[in-house]
Amino acid sequence: MDTSIDHIGIAIQSLEEGKAFYEALGLEIEGIEEVPEQKVRVGFLPVGDTRLELLEATSEDSPIARHLEKRGPGLHHLCFEVKDIEASMEKLRSSGYRLLSEEPQPGAHGCRVCFVHPKSSAGVLIELSQKR
Ligand code: CO
Repeated sequence: MDTSIDHIGIAIQSLEEGKAFYEALGLEIEGIEEVPEQKVRVGFLPVGDTRLELLEATSEDSPIARHLEKRGPGLHHLCFEVKDIEASMEKLRSSGYRLLSEEPQPGAHGCRVCFVHPKSSAGVLIELSQKR
């Protein structure tokens, strides 16, 4: 299979507080970035071949703020790297799976991303990401 798990998204109330646990495990945050289109501030921590993405809401109508309200902090999404995001989206769409956007959206580090509705993927919010 020509893909890998790019990162695992974790919703937290505060990056500064949330990262402390992972730093105690010996992981290091490699830069914090704001993604205005998603209304989040994210910090990536490399772990082996993948990364954790800590997500903090930057506004009350952020998807992360809604997630924290409904479910509290915790696992949020799983991100697969894909080579051709339009092709992956078209394949899912034509197979009847629901996507959360019609077009790829801007993600962190200049990636282009798309989310799959969790009702289409057995309850797991899935992000597809194509590197710049
Ligand atoms: Co993500």
